Amino acid sequence: MNCTFERVFFDRVLLGEQEIRERVDLLAKELATYTDDDGFVLVVILKGALMFAADLSRRIPSQCSIDFLTVSSYYGGTQSTGNVHIVDGHSAEVYGKKVLVVDDIFDTGLTLQTVVKFLEQKGAQEVRTCVLLKKKKVRGVPFEVDYHAFEIEDEFVVGYGLDYQGEYRKLPYVGVMKT
Ligand code: XMP
Repeated sequence: MNCTFERVFFDRVLLGEQEIRERVDLLAKELATYTDDDGFVLVVILKGALMFAADLSRRIPSQCSIDFLTVSSYYGGTQSTGNVHIVDGHSAEVYGKKVLVVDDIFDTGLTLQTVVKFLEQKGAQEVRTCVLLKKKKVRGVPFEVDYHAFEIEDEFVVGYGLDYQGEYRKLPYVGVMKT
């Protein structure tokens, strides 16, 4: 931590740059049985998954197309509103295709549940989900993520794509915000 805003707002670094890099390498290998077929679609949930998806996709050897869905549920705060809104779903061309959805964090589970339902309705052949972080908590939603890089405590985290009110996304590590 070297900037003033990081010292003021951060409690601690949870996952360092190298730890993330090594785990993303391994995760790409874990995904191989699903992503081995050329032609699957990697759907990136914006904006939080941008760093993770960029790093993960470049470690997956097979060909894939990359698409984006803009999804909103936090509206800048630290609590899910419980209202998941797919802001722009026009571009996702998934009919008849295998899909890997990549998101930053699995919290209540509502976002991925909604996105998977949306992609299935668009005719995707199979949809699997992958997140950087999975929060340890009891979830009311009957939905489980297929792959995750790290399991973390139920704390609000930022960095490596995750934001608080639009800030901190560019940090190369994941940090815990002061409460
Ligand atoms: P759900 O609850 O639908 O949440 O699984 C998924 C989305 O909520 C955001 N989220 C967070 N964002 N730090 C963040 O910066 C967090 O600790 C956090 N927890 C949830 C995130 O956008 C995720 O895609």
